[in-house]
Amino acid sequence: MLFFLDTAEIIEVKDLVETGMIDGITTNPTLASSSGIPFSELITQMCELIDGPVSAEVTALDASTMVSQGRRLAKISKNVTIKVPLTPEGLKACQILRDESILVNVTLCFSASQALLAAKAGATFISPFIGRIDDVSQSGMKLIQDIRIIYDNYGYETAILAASIRHPIHIVEAAKAGADVATMPPKVFRQLYNHPLTDVGIENFLKDWQKSGLTI
Ligand code: E4P
Repeated sequence: MLFFLDTAEIIEVKDLVETGMIDGITTNPTLASSSGIPFSELITQMCELIDGPVSAEVTALDASTMVSQGRRLAKISKNVTIKVPLTPEGLKACQILRDESILVNVTLCFSASQALLAAKAGATFISPFIGRIDDVSQSGMKLIQDIRIIYDNYGYETAILAASIRHPIHIVEAAKAGADVATMPPKVFRQLYNHPLTDVGIENFLKDWQKSGLTI
């Protein structure tokens, strides 16, 4: 499973890239607007920090403007992935950008029928928002499972990018359901490492080691 960071905080990306576990970045207009950096500068800096896909979302509502925004952003680097919303106009833009070999992440997916349309439009990634689905008392994970079945039935190559992740269990369950990628806030990425028994185990091993007087 690929791990993307869902953030517009350069300092977090710099820090977590060091782990060797981060394969890409996703941003959205809300995250980008809180970064305090001009958007193209933000995407440029992200692309300098990471080799993998860096998602940059268009803000237009019509396909033609989405395509021109997408082309402009794609010029920043080969790893820029244009994020378009799951609307008829967004999927028109997706097809045009894919024909130009530009990577596309179709975002704001909340149903299997929407995911099927995105695959038909040739999306590189489909982003089902599992946390936001859970928030309205439906199952985000069931959506990941359904999309996996549908894509496998037809051999669609669109990668399933589990988004709107709130905690480590979302990642484990998405991995079990066959999601190709999980994008997560830095805080959730750090939580993946944690287990209280690991901490207690280290503490006890070190206590015994110090008592023994042994050295390496
Ligand atoms: C994904 O690309 C989105 O930026 C993100 O996962 C949305 O998450 P949220 O529902 O926590 O805002």
